[in-house]
Amino acid sequence: MYDYHEVTKHSYASVRRNPNYLAWEKQPVPFKIYNRFLNMIKLDDANPLHRFIYRIGGISAKKVYPGVEYYLRTIPSAGALYPVEFYFQCREVDGFEDGIYHFDVRNSAVKLLHRLGIEEGVEVFFEDSRQIKGFLFLLSSVYYRSSWKYRDRAFRYCLLDTGHGLGTIEASAYLMEYACRISYRFDKEALNRVFGLGRGEFFLSAALVGAAKEERAAYIDMQLEEISAPMEENALIEEAYHDSSVLQKCKINRRYDSFHYDKRRFDEVIYRRRSIREFHREAITKASFDAIMENLNRSVMSDCDEDVTIYYVINRVSGMEQGLYRSGDLVKRGDFSEKAGFLCLEQSLGRESAVTFFLTTSAENYQPAYQKAGVIGQRLYLSCEYLGIGCSGIGAYYDDETAAFLETEDMILYALAIGR
Ligand SMILES: Cc1cc2nc3c(=O)[nH]c(=O)nc-3n(C[C@H](O)[C@H](O)[C@H](O)COP(=O)(O)O)c2cc1C
Repeated sequence: MYDYHEVTKHSYASVRRNPNYLAWEKQPVPFKIYNRFLNMIKLDDANPLHRFIYRIGGISAKKVYPGVEYYLRTIPSAGALYPVEFYFQCREVDGFEDGIYHFDVRNSAVKLLHRLGIEEGVEVFFEDSRQIKGFLFLLSSVYYRSSWKYRDRAFRYCLLDTGHGLGTIEASAYLMEYACRISYRFDKEALNRVFGLGRGEFFLSAALVGAAKEERAAYIDMQLEEISAPMEENALIEEAYHDSSVLQKCKINRRYDSFHYDKRRFDEVIYRRRSIREFHREAITKASFDAIMENLNRSVMSDCDEDVTIYYVINRVSGMEQGLYRSGDLVKRGDFSEKAGFLCLEQSLGRESAVTFFLTTSAENYQPAYQKAGVIGQRLYLSCEYLGIGCSGIGAYYDDETAAFLETEDMILYALAIGR
């Protein structure tokens, strides 16, 4: 098992030994703002391309408490800390100059940071350096936003949150009749430098929404300003990032497997998505569950597709036997709702759900496997929201106890609960 994963396991004892005290005076700001830019485009709801970008991580709700105001977004995030930043390159897209942009979520705008020179492009850092006509998204993580609260385990949440980001690009692209190809095989360290990302921020993945041309991209001569926010360095996370950035024996998955939603409703669903905070122990139907599973099991197009196994504990699904299932097969009969709640760090969400999921892997490529779990998580959220079923990601679970219950040697990547 990957070392970083091993040392960041939660167990019944570790959670009690190391309670998390939050240093509120050091709370990170969840937004990155560029003050120097070439052009700023306010995203306009009436413009389909602007909506396409807004849907991938824009603000979708505001909460106001005495003295504080915070924003929720189209993507969920562990602890609502939002470590993900979205950048994109645009080439030959109507209404956008060819260039490198940053999605300024706080201002619901995109900012042009660099105009592309002749043949220039970030594709030069990819294994396939053919120019992409369309959008090439780059997703980074500002890890302190998450490690402020979750300490060493935060790298896992950065990967899951980025996976949710990829999942929302996939969903938003589907509404524009575009396919989305995820890419992990690019020179991340070089791109980190060219984008002037400081020590606390690093690229994790890319999403290509466009078509490859014949011409190859030439080196992009750009040195963006470094914008540093107060942070505390975490050597374990930085080391885990560097180690797991080297990929080996990747399988390419080129199969596009489109969703079949009513597009107008699905558009609203992306904006409306929220995490459920408690369930009322109501059952869902088998037909709903089957529809959800069909979406989870659709192929995820990427250049490093790792196997992620989906286990689920059926607590309350009418027409289905209670028990633990693995990829569609019943492996243990019985009522495991108490057990599922216990494994999710005793959170009632795991116990009172209709279904509690556990995603696992034995893959060698940690970053792609973990982000795929996030993509599956985003598909689950959106499928559930579409059917009026609640969903919540659960990043806090007892690792070894879960593996023992599932009877697997796999790493446990993520838990999620759905229901009413
Ligand atoms: C990776 C991940 C892990 C999460 N873990 C938990 C959890 O353990 N318990 C919980 O109640 N919510 C969890 N959540 C839900 C977040 O708290 C929620 O997404 C965040 O507060 C923002 O709210 P929203 O999803 O309604 O927009 C998790 C979400 C993600 C993406």
